[in-house]
Amino acid sequence: MSSHPGEYKRITTKVILNMKKTGEKVAMLTAYDFMTAKLLDEAGVDIILVGDSVGNVFQGLETTLPVTLDEIIYHTKVVRRAVKRAMLVADMPFMSFQVNTEEAVRNCGRILKESGAEAVKMEGGKRIEPLVKQLVDIGIPVMGHLGLTPQSIYKFGTYEVRARETAEAKQLVEDAKILDRVGVFGLVLEKIPSSLAAKVTKNVSCATIGIGAGPHCDGQVLVTNDMLGMNEQFHPRFVRTYAKLTETMRGAFQNYIDDVKKKSFPSKNESY
Ligand code: KIV
Repeated sequence: MSSHPGEYKRITTKVILNMKKTGEKVAMLTAYDFMTAKLLDEAGVDIILVGDSVGNVFQGLETTLPVTLDEIIYHTKVVRRAVKRAMLVADMPFMSFQVNTEEAVRNCGRILKESGAEAVKMEGGKRIEPLVKQLVDIGIPVMGHLGLTPQSIYKFGTYEVRARETAEAKQLVEDAKILDRVGVFGLVLEKIPSSLAAKVTKNVSCATIGIGAGPHCDGQVLVTNDMLGMNEQFHPRFVRTYAKLTETMRGAFQNYIDDVKKKSFPSKNESY
């Protein structure tokens, strides 16, 4: 069970904002299936994100761009059944909120109504200001996402650290302030220098959640499959691996195959 200094029965936007005030760090991880979500929730993670990283780690896609709204709704519905305590956030996939505000609002509404998510996350800065304002007015909590925004990978051309240059860093601080002003409760900062993340964290009232953004954010997020060591091909320095699941799974599969081949499975005790 959770080892939090502050014990919360249920994590809400108010709790997240309170954590920022008291200095308790927010622990966020991703989930796409029932069993993982149940374990995360029971362990006491504060926010569970059904990220569009489902495209990379579940669907085997190279980018997150092909992930659809219906797929996010499907995975969020599945995760919802397992989550009792954590706050459940669903990612808005590419082109589900970019066409116009009316369509975006309708899609965010679908996420909350059909999947049971309690908030939406979306990539972007100033461009999404009117949308975020409208969503917050309606009562849909929003988490922003700045820095390395994977839905813009073809524009960036690389997954390298963002906002090292003064102009981009200045723009990022400006975007963070805009999103904060229109009411996001949280802000993912992905792959930016620690000092810049610290500056943003100091200048906004929402909770900053870092991924490759150093220790000064109000919380941290990782893709669960990465921190479990399920992807041997992906080793960025910001991922700390807490398990070697690939090795464990490969060993288990090999042992099972061997047991079947040598007829030692099933035994008498495993038969009726
Ligand atoms: O899609 C995702 O999992 C994310 C996290 C990396 C924040 O956006």
